[in-house]
Amino acid sequence: MSAPRLEIEALTVRFGGLAAVDDVSFSVAPGTVHGLIGPNGAGKTTLFNLISGLVAPSGGAIRLDGQRIDDLPSWGRARSRLARTFQNIRMFQDMSALETVMTGMHTRLGEGLAASLLRMGGFRKAETGAVARAWELLAFVGLADAARRRSGDLPYGDQRRLEIARALALEPRLLLLDEPAAGMNPSETLALEDLLEKLKAQGLTILLVEHDMHFVMRLCDRITVLNFGRRIAQGAPHEVRADPRVVEAYLGARVARSLEAPQ
Ligand SMILES: Nc1ncnc2c1ncn2[C@@H]1O[C@H](COP(=O)(O)OP(=O)(O)OP(=O)(O)O)[C@@H](O)[C@H]1O
Ligand SMILES: [Mg+2]
Repeated sequence: MSAPRLEIEALTVRFGGLAAVDDVSFSVAPGTVHGLIGPNGAGKTTLFNLISGLVAPSGGAIRLDGQRIDDLPSWGRARSRLARTFQNIRMFQDMSALETVMTGMHTRLGEGLAASLLRMGGFRKAETGAVARAWELLAFVGLADAARRRSGDLPYGDQRRLEIARALALEPRLLLLDEPAAGMNPSETLALEDLLEKLKAQGLTILLVEHDMHFVMRLCDRITVLNFGRRIAQGAPHEVRADPRVVEAYLGARVARSLEAPQ
C-alpha cells in the first residue's frame, strides 16, 4: 500500500456545544477518488473547511503526503497544491472565463515572479505559459468557446465546470469537490462524470462530497460516511451501500435497493 496522500486523524471541531466534526479519521490513497457522504448537516463541508484551512480544528491532525498542514493558513495549503471547489459557487462574476481560470494559478505565477528577479524575462515567460495553460484547461473542461465570456453569464453547469478548471490550474495534489453535481441537469451530470473519470485516469487524487448516489457509487474507489459529525461507515461502494447503518442514517431502503440494481 502506498503512503496516503491525505490523512485525517481524530479531527474535531466544535461550534458552541455542537461537534460538527467529531473525532473523524480516514485516509485517501494517491490516485483514488474518495467519497464523503452523509445527510444534510453531517459535517461534510465543515470537514472540507478544516482541510482547506477556512475553519480551525479544536483537535486532531491533517497530513498531506505525510506533512502536517493543519497549522498552515489556507494560502499556505494552496501553495502545497491543495485545491477545492465550493458547494455554492464562489467566483468573480465580472471576470472572463479565461481570467477566472488564471486566478487559480496565482501562487504558481508568484513563483514565476520570483524567478524573474533572478533572470530577466522570467515573468513574461511565466505569464505567456499561464495563458496557454488556462486555454488548455478550458478546453479540457469543454469551455474553450466560453473563454472570453463573462463568468457570471455562463449557464450554471458551465460555471461549475469553470470552477473545476480554476481548481485544476493549481495543479493540485489533492482536489476537494463539494457537491459538483448539485443543481445540474442529467446531461450536465453525465458530462461532469466523464470529466471526473478523465481526471481519475490521469491519476488525480480527489475527495468528493456529493448527494447523487449513482454518481458517487460509480466514481469512487472508497467512501467514508458521516452522520452528526461522526464517521459511521467506510469501505468500497458495494460495502457502504449495504451497510445497515448507512441505509438507516442516509440512503433509506429504496435508494439502497436501486443502487444494487445493474445500471
Ligand atoms: N461556522 C459555523 N458555525 C456554527 N455552526 C456551523 C458552522 N458551520 C457549520 N455549522 C453546523 O455544523 C453542522 C455541519 O454542517 P455542514 O455544512 O458541514 O454539513 P454538510 O454535511 O455539508 O451538509 P449539506 O449536505 O447540507 O451540505 C451543521 O449543524 C451546521 O449548522
Ligand atoms: Mg455541505
